[in-house]
Amino acid sequence: MKALLLENIHQVAVESLEAKGYDVELLSRSLSEDELVEALPGVSLLGIRSNTTVTAKVLDSAPDLLAVGCFCIGTNQVDLAAATERGVAVFNAPYSNTRSVVELVIGEIIALARRLPEKIEKMHAGVWDKSAKGSHEVRGRTLGIVGYGNIGTQLSTVAEALGMRVVFFDTADRPAHGNARRMSTLDELLAISDVVSLHIDGRPGNAGLFGHEQFSKMKPRAMFVNAARGMVVDTESLREHILSGHIAGAAMDVFPVEPKAQGDPFESPLRGLDNVILTPHVGGSTQEAQEEIGWFVSGKLAAYALHGSTALSVNLPDVNVPELRSGHRLGFLHRNVPGVLARLNEMLAEQGDNVVQQQLATRGEVGYVVTDAAAPLSAGSLERLAASENGLWVRTWSA
Ligand SMILES: NC(=O)c1ccc[n+]([C@@H]2O[C@H](COP(=O)([O-])OP(=O)(O)OC[C@H]3O[C@@H](n4cnc5c(N)ncnc54)[C@H](O)[C@@H]3O)[C@@H](O)[C@H]2O)c1
Repeated sequence: MKALLLENIHQVAVESLEAKGYDVELLSRSLSEDELVEALPGVSLLGIRSNTTVTAKVLDSAPDLLAVGCFCIGTNQVDLAAATERGVAVFNAPYSNTRSVVELVIGEIIALARRLPEKIEKMHAGVWDKSAKGSHEVRGRTLGIVGYGNIGTQLSTVAEALGMRVVFFDTADRPAHGNARRMSTLDELLAISDVVSLHIDGRPGNAGLFGHEQFSKMKPRAMFVNAARGMVVDTESLREHILSGHIAGAAMDVFPVEPKAQGDPFESPLRGLDNVILTPHVGGSTQEAQEEIGWFVSGKLAAYALHGSTALSVNLPDVNVPELRSGHRLGFLHRNVPGVLARLNEMLAEQGDNVVQQQLATRGEVGYVVTDAAAPLSAGSLERLAASENGLWVRTWSA
């Protein structure tokens, strides 16, 4: 069992896979397509970050590959359709940096309320400007959280611990945490919030959600934070509202257009404005988040390879099965057509096997069924299943 981890993935992933019996090779860099083609035979788990591209050609040259772990949030560096077609599971770590984003946002809210960006800049320019003018505590002020998902809810809890009043608006039916109050419309939230912080996802309908109309509806001298998605905010509008003094400050971590590579120039209408914090999309970028990602993704890879669990896979149907404690397990990935489950169960019945538990899930073109049974499926049945026209792969595990 060999795992190849690229791009300096955190050591915790190496340790976690080695503890599960994997022979782990860790490289500090990414590999090109040709290098991957050469390196992958014999490798069952591949770990990458955002700089390695896994193409259909790479997948075709990796006969032993079971899964690709993206030790990051995004998965667009992997040809997901090609991976699904070849029965290769892909995992990522969508929530491992939640706390990091929350801490950045809390720090920014306090910094904006104290007008620290201006003060810091002046000090570096050698100007001593000691004044309480425009500086506020955040205690007792109202934070309006738009998007009450993983990050929004955790921000809610931490902000309340600072003594802030929290209100939130979400298009989905989310329960309130602590003393937070749900607003039935975005306008209601904008009208009462001293700080508005966006934590919505990047669904297409959210493009341009926040523009002149929404900024106009915010309280005079309120502050604005966006660490969600750049395309959600009209930055020209925000600039106008900051210049007019209507918005007292803003912290932006994400932008409609972001430089592609390290060192590329950054352009934005928000550059050079007073009391505006600009950060290069680092909300989730901490050592702790990297460690958490290493732990999370290696756990998902191992659970898939060693027990057949596809829980939180980004491309295969989600079947969350625990470690097998006794008996035998059969995993069957197949095309999502009617009758597959019936035929599998016929085979099990023919040989008088007793099914202990069975879970089926489908996703788009594929279905995945995991069956735990007292006895293993006979070699003949396994061969028939593997050779069936709708089968992608059959795998077995024994306790
Ligand atoms: N800055 C960074 O480095 C960084 C790091 C991680 C995540 N993010 C971004 O933060 C955002 C939130 O992440 P998450 O993990 O909390 O996502 P999530 O999916 O858990 O939560 C998003 C919430 O927004 C709600 N929502 C969507 N559209 C809405 C709308 N128009 N109005 C109100 N509510 C709406 C959804 O119902 C959901 O509850 C995402 O856009 C993510 O990409 C940024």
